[in-house]
Parts: sequence; structure tokens; C-alpha cells
Amino acid sequence: MKGFSTPAYVYDTQLLNDTLESIKAETCNDPAFCVHYAIKANDQHDILTMIAKQGFGADCVSGGEVRASIEAGFPAELITFAGVGKADWEIVLALENGIGMFNVESREEMEVISEIATAMNKVAHISLRINPDVHANTHAHITTGRAENKFGIASEDMLEVVRLSNDLPGLSFEGLHFHIGSQLLDMSDFEALCLRINQLQDKLESAGFHAKNINVGGGLGVDYEHPQEHPIANFKAYFSTFRQHLQLLQGQRLHFELGRSIVAQAGILLSKVLYVKHTATKNFVILDAGMTELLRPALYGALHKIENLSAEERHTDESPECVDVVGPICESSDVFARDYLLPHTQRGDLVAIRTAGAYGQTMASTYNHRPLPKVYFI
Ligand SMILES: Cc1ncc(COP(=O)(O)O)c(C=O)c1O
Repeated sequence: MKGFSTPAYVYDTQLLNDTLESIKAETCNDPAFCVHYAIKANDQHDILTMIAKQGFGADCVSGGEVRASIEAGFPAELITFAGVGKADWEIVLALENGIGMFNVESREEMEVISEIATAMNKVAHISLRINPDVHANTHAHITTGRAENKFGIASEDMLEVVRLSNDLPGLSFEGLHFHIGSQLLDMSDFEALCLRINQLQDKLESAGFHAKNINVGGGLGVDYEHPQEHPIANFKAYFSTFRQHLQLLQGQRLHFELGRSIVAQAGILLSKVLYVKHTATKNFVILDAGMTELLRPALYGALHKIENLSAEERHTDESPECVDVVGPICESSDVFARDYLLPHTQRGDLVAIRTAGAYGQTMASTYNHRPLPKVYFI
């Protein structure tokens, strides 16, 4: 490709579109279902535009994300705004733009939204993010719905906070919001969430309150091990779990905030081998991409499938070699994979790190004064 250089994110727009179509096929007959794209997974403008064009909403966690989603064409009423630490300016920005919903994470935050909305002569539509204390089967750093996590309002405080929301000016209580974690592949986690929501809804209704909206967050996982075999996440199982186990009340809308499962497989990180270094104990393949381009391995110990594209083209029948695939950053955690089998690798080889479309480019940094990665679409 002319002018192509690494490290670079390459996005497959066809796969992204197929993924969006697959979600629509699983949900579009049901007007009660509303899918928002969690733009923290990938906030690349062209990706946002493609998703907005397909009629999805946006789930934001900062003023910057609210702005980016509006610029990309998401209708304001389909934008939700979550996050434990919304700054005053972010609340003002969201109110000015008339976003659909604030997912409120504490009583203290709700009081501030009420004050700001009243001063601006606006009404903020709010859902309360309830911490359901559901233990999801995923990495400790990406579980969010346990009592010890910082997110949401404790379920035992729900009624008191709903009551307060009715008493405070400038607020309209619209529903409940949940999010139990990310990269969840076991549908029993979502089933447990549904059962918990059913109990909380009973409690709410018995106390004389009604939620017009239930938001179950995101979290559906993808196949990092065999991305080519499963390029599209199991949306069928995911949505049918909610259909089967969540007791929606008359007229209620069910919102989803999917991030990873929409964009992860559509992106790869391409990198060149700078050096193959042999020591007494290890062989290191040193790439021109590192934790600055893809932080997940250093942050969570995440493992992405790595392929040597140049070696595949050479068609050699040498046996694979056991290597540590590392980046150039001055941190010992800058490792993509340890004791990984790659075909015989040489300086200059092109390497693909798969399933990098979610929480990849968005987490890139300029640490070590490095430029941000380039971006290409195919
Ligand atoms: C509140 C909320 N909603 C949605 C998401 C998206 O999750 P995922 O990318 O796993 O679908 C997250 C991720 O952290 C989140 O915190």
C-alpha cells in the first residue's frame, strides 16, 4: 500500500457493517430494544459516523465523548451519559445539547445535576445506575457490578434516591441503569443480572414508582483466541437471554450499551519487526508497536492473537519458534505475549495483532514522546 507505515490501526469497514447488521437483525423487530454504542471502545470519527448512520444511539462517559458523538451525527435524544465523576462543565454541555439520559451514579451527583439543570431552566432526564452486586466471570479490572466497585448506587439505597429525585427540581426520573462488566462470554452472568433487575423492579413498583427505561449496559465478549472463526459476537444468545429472563413491564424500553462486541474484531494493529534478539534464555521479537499503541496486554494481561503476515507469505515449512513478542517502550510490562509460537521471524516482517478495534486506539498514548498510531480503513 503506497505511503503505508507502521504502527497503524487498520479497520475493516465491511466487517463493522456486517456486525451492525447482525445486531439489527437480532433487535430491529422489537421497538422496545434500543442499542447504544459505547464510544469509549473506539471513538474514531469515521467509525462513529458509520455507527450513527445505522441508527444506533451513543453511550458516553465524558463531555468529550458527548461532543464527539454529536459531531458524528448521533441524535441527541439517543445519547446517554454515564460515569462516576461528571464535572460541572460536562453536565452543562450535556444539558445544552439536550441529551436523552444522564445515568446517575450517586446521590451527590444527582443533587449537582438538579442544581445545574434548575439554574439553566432545563429538565435533566435521569436513570439511576444501580450497583446490582452481581459477580461477573471476567478479569477483576473490568468487572463493575460488585458491591466493592466504585460504580453506581447501592441497591439498598435505590428507593431513597428515587424518592429524592422526585423531590428535587430540574429532574425527571426515567429508569434504572446497570453494567456488570466487560468481555463476558458466559450468558449466565447476564441471566443473573436479569433476575436481579426483576427483583429491583418489583421493589420499585411496590413502592409506587415506575421506570420507563431499563438499561442493562454492555459487556458482551468476543473471541480473542480465534477471531477469524468468530468475527461476529454471539448477539443471538445475548439478546435472547434478555428476552427470556428480563420481565419488561408494559411500555418499558430496554437499552443496551455495547462497545467491544461492535468494534473489536473490525480492527487490527499492524506493526513491523524491528529486531529479533536472542539471549541465553529467551528469544525476543521486538516490534515497532508497544503499550503506547495497544495498552490492554500491559493493563490487564490481555492476550491478542499475533500473526506474522510476512512469514505466511514466504510459505516456509520451518517449525514455529517460541518467542516473547514485546514493544519498544521502556517498561517491563510492554509485552504483547510471552512464550508465543510464531513462524521464523525476521527484521522487517509485518505482524498483525488481531481483535484490536476495541479499547486499542482509544487508549493509545504519547508516552516516550511517541506519535499516535496511524489509521487506515479497508
Ligand atoms: C457503563 C458502561 N456501559 C457500557 C460499557 C461497554 O462495555 P463493553 O465494551 O464491554 O460492551 C462500559 C464499559 O466499560 C461501561 O462502563
